[in-house]
Amino acid sequence: MRIAKTFAETRLVSSGEIGLVPTMGFLHEGHLSLIEAARRDRDNDTVVMSLFVNPLQFDRDSDLARYPRDAERDIELAAAAGADVVFAPDVDEMYPGEQLARVNVKRLSEPMEGPNRPGHFEGVATVVAKLLAGIRPDRSYFGRKDAQQLAIVRRMAVDLSFPGTIVGVPIVREADGLALSSRNIFLSDAERREALALSRGLMEAADAAEAGETAASRLTGAVLEQIREGSSVSVEYVMLASQDLVEPLSELDRPAFLALAAWSGGTRLIDNVHFDEAEDGFRADRGTRLQSKSVLYGNAGSREESRDAVDNRHR
Ligand code: PAJ
Repeated sequence: MRIAKTFAETRLVSSGEIGLVPTMGFLHEGHLSLIEAARRDRDNDTVVMSLFVNPLQFDRDSDLARYPRDAERDIELAAAAGADVVFAPDVDEMYPGEQLARVNVKRLSEPMEGPNRPGHFEGVATVVAKLLAGIRPDRSYFGRKDAQQLAIVRRMAVDLSFPGTIVGVPIVREADGLALSSRNIFLSDAERREALALSRGLMEAADAAEAGETAASRLTGAVLEQIREGSSVSVEYVMLASQDLVEPLSELDRPAFLALAAWSGGTRLIDNVHFDEAEDGFRADRGTRLQSKSVLYGNAGSREESRDAVDNRHR
């Protein structure tokens, strides 16, 4: 595996069709599933993972400062998952001067995460545009975990005529349902336990939708019901929105996702289920589950084992 510090170097060491997996590092099985999806796609000759903690997308300096980093570990994990190249630029390579050209995807950035994270999606869309322009991938892989981000990236690629394809990949969850996130390492045992109410609620809503429930209020209600009074979990939003325009829906009548943001103690978590059209209504994408502890918790030696344990039967 090669490590490249510049766009030019990345293009030089990449040949044929390129599959790109953009990340901010501190990898877990969610990221690894994107690399594996890129690797599985026979059309990709080179799989490039980018590793860059993008200052432009952090609305709170404190959040940027405490974002976990471990490049050495990331490079090892990316190689084991099948990446050919890790593009790990310095801030100066990505932003040699003040970044005056910014990408805004209107409307899609406004609901859900929008009000709570001013400037966040502008930062995301701008850095992804730079990655697409600098690396010129044929396919780029993004997690359904960040559903609004995925919608924004898809729309940006269409509206700005980026030639490659954007591929969405299911959420990877820990064995008990908690969606994998680099931020999970900040949860205390009690906060982590209480945070399970979020995925539990989403699974209840998924069951209801598959049984024919279409009212958004009932689906969001199923999530809220799981969150106990007096628990350390406080919900910012639970919302049903369309997959393409992130438009709030009152009825599940098109491809959509039910998403939430909540704080467990001092840690902000997001999660969702996607509803895709099926022959007889909507099928919920509940994601996949690990069978053993995530690599996030530093169990060196069992990394292979836990990565292989991604259980697709839970889809
Ligand atoms: P980051 O949070 O590192 O996530 C990188 C990619 O991994 C994103 O596409 C995200 O949706 C995906 N991902 C994270 N957790 C996942 C999970 N549990 N299951 C499946 N996929 C998961 O998202 C970003 O970085 C940045 O905004 C980025 C796109 C790299 C731009 O800076």
